[in-house]
Amino acid sequence: MYELKKISYNFDALEPVIDAKTIEIHHTKHHQNYLNKLNDIIKKNNLDVSKSLEELILDVDQVNDADKVGFLFNIGGVINHDLYFEILKPGGSNEISGSLKEGIESSFGSVDAFIEEFAQKASTLMGSGWVFLALNPNKELELVRANNQESPISHGFDPIMVIDVWEHAYYLKYQNLRPDYVTNFLDIVNFDVVKELYDEKVK
Ligand SMILES: [Fe+2]
Repeated sequence: MYELKKISYNFDALEPVIDAKTIEIHHTKHHQNYLNKLNDIIKKNNLDVSKSLEELILDVDQVNDADKVGFLFNIGGVINHDLYFEILKPGGSNEISGSLKEGIESSFGSVDAFIEEFAQKASTLMGSGWVFLALNPNKELELVRANNQESPISHGFDPIMVIDVWEHAYYLKYQNLRPDYVTNFLDIVNFDVVKELYDEKVK
């Protein structure tokens, strides 16, 4: 069965942008819960656990009809949170540079235009969901919205950065002020990690 991918920093490492309690609950309760439910569905459907989750999500046709929605919801919940906690790893640069900067400029015109579109899409997404920076099948960068726990991998996209805009990601500190969370969030993204993912996936 799959195990929860541990986060490599302390719960308070992203203060003051995201408080320790929020990270703790988000990772040890929400993230863990998606994993537990996913493992139950995998067991019930005898799925191939030698695969990565990014491969397994494409095997949805092998899941019983009654479990398909739950499978996609919970595997998306695990994959999306894995990426979210990974790209917030402290210690890197919050500046967009090098190959990533070139890719962003090529797709969005400028880094400022990218940030503006990111903030707009994340602040105005209705209900619960995510905004991903992802490579489309032509290896171009796009900002992709996803509702609930949908993963862009199901649609042929390869995500390299993400913001979680479910209320559980920010409500303790920001309450109804999601735009403030979105703006501050960009200060704690580790763009060195995002650049590594970009270089790996753009090939
Ligand atoms: Fe979340």
